[in-house]
Amino acid sequence: MSSTPLLKVEGLKVSYGHIEAVKGIDFELHDGQITTLVGANGAGKSTTLLALSGLVKKAAGRVVLDGQDVTQLSPHRIVSGGMVQVAEGRATLTTLTVHENLELGAYTRSDGRAQRAEDLERIYTLFPRLKERTGGLAGNLSGGEQQMLAIGRALMAKPRVLLLDEPSMGLAPIIVQDIFRTLREINQAGLTIFLVEQNVRQALKIADRAYVIETGKIVLEGSGRDLLGNPKVQDAYLGG
Ligand SMILES: Nc1ncnc2c1ncn2[C@@H]1O[C@H](COP(=O)(O)OP(=O)(O)O)[C@@H](O)[C@H]1O
Ligand SMILES: [Mg+2]
Repeated sequence: MSSTPLLKVEGLKVSYGHIEAVKGIDFELHDGQITTLVGANGAGKSTTLLALSGLVKKAAGRVVLDGQDVTQLSPHRIVSGGMVQVAEGRATLTTLTVHENLELGAYTRSDGRAQRAEDLERIYTLFPRLKERTGGLAGNLSGGEQQMLAIGRALMAKPRVLLLDEPSMGLAPIIVQDIFRTLREINQAGLTIFLVEQNVRQALKIADRAYVIETGKIVLEGSGRDLLGNPKVQDAYLGG
């Protein structure tokens, strides 16, 4: 494994009032890898992502992105610094077209039109369904297509790290496979991915590195393959 992580998180704590949802966790993402954080409903996965994106207050801890301390940056600065989250529940703008949603993803960029047009084409190549429906309203897309649009929109921000919160949620298994295959493709093109999932099996299958979170604490870590074969993981998350 490479020496310096692209993202390093140390001692992260997040509280909602008197409830400590994330209780001091450490993890790192390495350049070009897929890292996953898996755990049950309520374990603290979304809270961790929201804290990385600056959308909830960190009670303690440090987040370092490519050597830069981003712990205190505003959500906007975090996005322009290269860490971009695909929202849970997809959250596309349903009254805008597919094309408009993708254009909005580029709003933090300062580079030119030509570059954005090129990236748009790349996204349409990755998701041919989106190209077919470019002028249609996002609200008329299927669940799987909306997830693809949400990912495409995040890619339009030109991230260095893509954060995903349960992209499999509410989707049929065959669509989940499709989404995860595409994530692999995006990763193989060089993008570092942090995937938060309750679908432990699918997430571990595509992950280079994995962490298991239980009630706000990381209880296991290892390669995706190691954790897939770990009896504790099998008992608790893979149906034995
Ligand atoms: N806005 C909130 N206010 C109070 N408690 C919250 C809020 N969001 C999440 N929690 C609590 O924090 C814990 C972690 O939640 P969450 O990060 O959403 O878990 P996960 O994404 O793993 O399902 C849970 O106990 C949840 O009930
Ligand atoms: Mg969640």
